[in-house]
Amino acid sequence: MKEEGFTVTPWKVEGEVDYTRLVNEFGTQLIDEELLARIKRFAGRLHPLLKLGYFFSHRDLDWILDMYEKGERFYLYTGRGPSGNVHLGHILPWVFTKYLQDSFNVNLIFQITDDEKFLYTDGRNMDEISRYAYENILDIIAVGFKPEKSKIIVDTKHINHLYPIAIEIAKKLTFSTVRATFGFTSSTNIGMILFPAIQAAPCFLPSKIEGKPTPCLIPAAIDQDPYWRITRDVAEKLGYYKPAQIHSKFLPGLGMQGKMSSSQPETAIFTTDEPEVAEKKVMNAFTGGQPTIALQRRLGADAYRCPVFWYLRYMFEDEKSSDERYVKCRSGSLLCYECKYALADAVKRYLKEFQIKREHARDMVDRFMFD
Ligand code: TYM
Repeated sequence: MKEEGFTVTPWKVEGEVDYTRLVNEFGTQLIDEELLARIKRFAGRLHPLLKLGYFFSHRDLDWILDMYEKGERFYLYTGRGPSGNVHLGHILPWVFTKYLQDSFNVNLIFQITDDEKFLYTDGRNMDEISRYAYENILDIIAVGFKPEKSKIIVDTKHINHLYPIAIEIAKKLTFSTVRATFGFTSSTNIGMILFPAIQAAPCFLPSKIEGKPTPCLIPAAIDQDPYWRITRDVAEKLGYYKPAQIHSKFLPGLGMQGKMSSSQPETAIFTTDEPEVAEKKVMNAFTGGQPTIALQRRLGADAYRCPVFWYLRYMFEDEKSSDERYVKCRSGSLLCYECKYALADAVKRYLKEFQIKREHARDMVDRFMFD
């Protein structure tokens, strides 16, 4: 979607996203208090990313819970396009997916769209993309999914499982639908024109595996929603349930505006960054601070526009400490360097631990691969 002031597509997020407008435009539902209470009842606890409104929108999540209540287990499905190293923005939906897997004790399908990144990206050959796919798989495993309940499917390796479903989907989708949904033009390569059917296919893989229509819930940031819109349109015609979604907002980059993105490495924290490199990026971050200390003491800073504040809130602090930080920031009693130090410390600790898990993951890759 290209709205005045911002753009959100699966390949590009620009400008300051107005999530209320996005929900209206995409036709999704906001997650309300009633739904939160139901999730809490089934899951046992509410993940902070739900409480804080980072996961904020959905399609048919209430129906997934209805089915679960009746004893019908759903599958989780999420994915990664391996165009580079994984950054913290990618990690958040996966951490949340792990919470869902642990809480509901359900299977997960994780798609690696190496084909998409080859077809979409100029100047990346398949060898490079395959290397990133392997590196990204280490990150996915390091998040801590249950090996016996999680399968990673790499498009170019496991296409035999996806292709029969993808052509069912492709046959029901016209060029004019995908052109309107994804903004394709007559110079888009034909690989990309078919690709939406490949990303849609894992939504129905659970039904093939179980031998009966099986609900599927997709946790991801809202940029992926166009894929699910077209999938939902064809699902029932093909005898499947419509896939349900739970959508997150975007983790901002460390710069002035925009989501964290691999294409701006100086404002993104990668899981593979040396902790000291990440620390430097944090210390150079844009903040919501005033130009001088005197002004900040007098006027306070703008936590709302500050990526440092949001990283601490979403990833490293509990709600109470974060609320206190907000009040101190707004009142001018806290200076930006203090928040930067707090974040740099937290990020360094996080990366050190994560990188150990990443190394252990090397021995587990085969266990996670789709058969
Ligand atoms: P990709 O690799 O661009 O992104 C992987 C996941 O990370 C989310 N994401 C973000 N979330 C928060 N803040 C950010 N700054 C940020 N940047 C990316 C994405 O929404 C996604 O959940 N085509 C897909 C791969 C894919 C997929 C899927 C994703 C295949 N099947 C099913 C989600 C669900 C892609 O290139 O994602």
